[in-house]
Amino acid sequence: MAWVTCRREGAIAELTIERADKLNALDHETLLELRAAIAALQRDPARVVVLASAGDRVFVAGADIAGMSQMTVEQARAFSQLGHETFDALEALPSVVLAVVQGAALGGGCELLLACDLAIAGEKARFGQPETNLGLIPGFGGCSRLLRRVGVGLARELVYGGRLMTAEEAQRVGLVQRVVPQAELRDAARSWADELAARPPLALARAKAAMQAAETSDARSAARVEIEAFASLFAAEDTREGLAAFLGKRAATFRGA
Ligand code: COA
Repeated sequence: MAWVTCRREGAIAELTIERADKLNALDHETLLELRAAIAALQRDPARVVVLASAGDRVFVAGADIAGMSQMTVEQARAFSQLGHETFDALEALPSVVLAVVQGAALGGGCELLLACDLAIAGEKARFGQPETNLGLIPGFGGCSRLLRRVGVGLARELVYGGRLMTAEEAQRVGLVQRVVPQAELRDAARSWADELAARPPLALARAKAAMQAAETSDARSAARVEIEAFASLFAAEDTREGLAAFLGKRAATFRGA
């Protein structure tokens, strides 16, 4: 792969977009590589996936504008479809996916972040969906994910006006969970990923599935998913260990089974 790397280290996978000379913009090729790397992670899941990008100024500058400038309607439909499939696959991973945002997360970059579970950002990061500045709209699932995340009023304001948010505002509205000084970002992300990787992965995966169902389906279906997810954990060794450790007044050791 030329633009996307995936490095495994124990329970953590580091998925990195390495197209810094193009501000990590997502063209057709980069999306294909990202989709392939995500498919490999689906076949052999890590406990935690850390999604990052190369360079220190820009997380992802969005869909590749040069590539889009030549597209026909048919090509644009296929491009949007590919973006949807890729981000849906990312969201469907059983791992906790942590985005590390060092700079501008714009357009497709913001949509990518929205398909992750959690995000940590440097204080200089900026966020937004400025596609309407180009006469476009978010096309990789951003209209629906942004609306669900920040509410319809703010989503409309951001998409119609194309305004960018600071890291502080992005944290306030729930787009990122932690903001740290720029120089501490990589270490802070690493230690958060380590903390998450030490937690019981099946419980986290089931919680993720139940929360996703609550976000995207009706209340009754979401309740059924939660009941099944809760019940299925009673077949897991980690659940027995967690309950026994509490009752035995000792620390639990989770093995991921
Ligand atoms: N796709 C393709 N190329 C992009 C790009 C994108 N999304 N965003 C920036 N670039 C290119 C620029 O065209 C420029 O190319 P050049 O060096 O050949 O002239 C280069 O990256 C540097 O961009 P520049 O705007 O000069 O850098 P900057 O530091 O002043 O600003 C951004 C960085 C990310 C804030 C700014 O480039 C930007 O707003 N990009 C567009 C974001 C956007 O609208 N995304 C949604 C796309 S649908």
